[in-house]
Amino acid sequence: MISTLITGIGELTTNDPELGRLTDAALVFTDGRVEWVGPASSAPVADSRIDVEGRAVLPGWVDSHTHLLFAGDRTTEFEARMAGRPYTAGGIAVTVNATRAASDADIADNLRRHVAEAVAQGTTTLETKTGYGLTVEDELRSARIAAQHVDEVTFLGAHLVPPGADPDTYVALATGPMLDAVAPHVRWADVFCEQGAFDEDQSRAVLEAARAKGLGLRVHGNQLGEGPGVRLAVELGAASVDHCTYLSAADVDALANSSTVATLLPACDLSTRQSLPPARRLLDAGVTVALASNCNPGSSYTTSMAYCITTAVLQMRMTIEEAVTAATLNGAKALRRSDVGHLSPGARADIHVLDAPSTTHLAYRPGVPLTHAVWRAGVRQR
Ligand code: NIG
Repeated sequence: MISTLITGIGELTTNDPELGRLTDAALVFTDGRVEWVGPASSAPVADSRIDVEGRAVLPGWVDSHTHLLFAGDRTTEFEARMAGRPYTAGGIAVTVNATRAASDADIADNLRRHVAEAVAQGTTTLETKTGYGLTVEDELRSARIAAQHVDEVTFLGAHLVPPGADPDTYVALATGPMLDAVAPHVRWADVFCEQGAFDEDQSRAVLEAARAKGLGLRVHGNQLGEGPGVRLAVELGAASVDHCTYLSAADVDALANSSTVATLLPACDLSTRQSLPPARRLLDAGVTVALASNCNPGSSYTTSMAYCITTAVLQMRMTIEEAVTAATLNGAKALRRSDVGHLSPGARADIHVLDAPSTTHLAYRPGVPLTHAVWRAGVRQR
């Protein structure tokens, strides 16, 4: 049992309701878990000691929504969008073709590269989805590879009806043999409930089949317009409904009276030239709001949680504290994890040291890389 003391912490965000935010603080971790948190002046002796010289320390980012099992690139589609063409669900098929054509090694390398990129920027818990395979073999391959490299894996066979396939036949596949094959490798199932993807009945069928199989539920909803996604997610007790860009008053009420987290993906809305999600309305109504990167080659090609926070603060009127909580503790809630997203004693030692005296600098210094050091489960990553 080797213990490490981090001292000289200018500002320590614990996300612990009793400890709150401390100044002039210290933290001890042992065997991958936080052991002690408190004032630097009363820190216990440990086997090793690191002085972070007044920097801010916070929990590692919990990125609860990514799509990292892919091959290829959609630069041409992005350029067309920047020239005025709208984003549609159909672009997913381009990545499906590239992914099916890629080798296992290429898909795994691509995943590892993006995970490393995220970790280097302070992400210590990562969810990723299948959804660019859309055959039993390709979805299974994605789930298997993902399970070797990330914390949380979501089955998204219901991402798009493959071009040329009959929708009912495809839903039967995704709720039958495909689900059976993938289930042992994943904890979650998701559906893209949107015009051009899956309608309400199809989405319900996908989610109910997954629930019967013992999987937790997540929903892509209300991304391109108002629709049934939020309502369905709340009704079926999904852990999270993601995007929430276009919400009715009834959607906000339903979320406020539920345990479903609204996960906002502002990098996606910017990259698809949409409005930003109504974060203030959600927060003021009492909804639990998370922020995630939605890293994928089509609608949001970034692993930067700091960019999401900057956008949330500067353009969505979230406070810095709300945005940091959304990217840590509430990301963990969206994944129904109680061991990450905070730095209470007993939590996984996922520690992010900023090269700044406070988390305010995440929005005050937009675009500046501020990650100084990262530990995941007590192991130094950077
Ligand atoms: O969350 N909305 C559905 N899925 C992804 C986009 C996937 C793509 O365009 O390749 C998203 O934005």
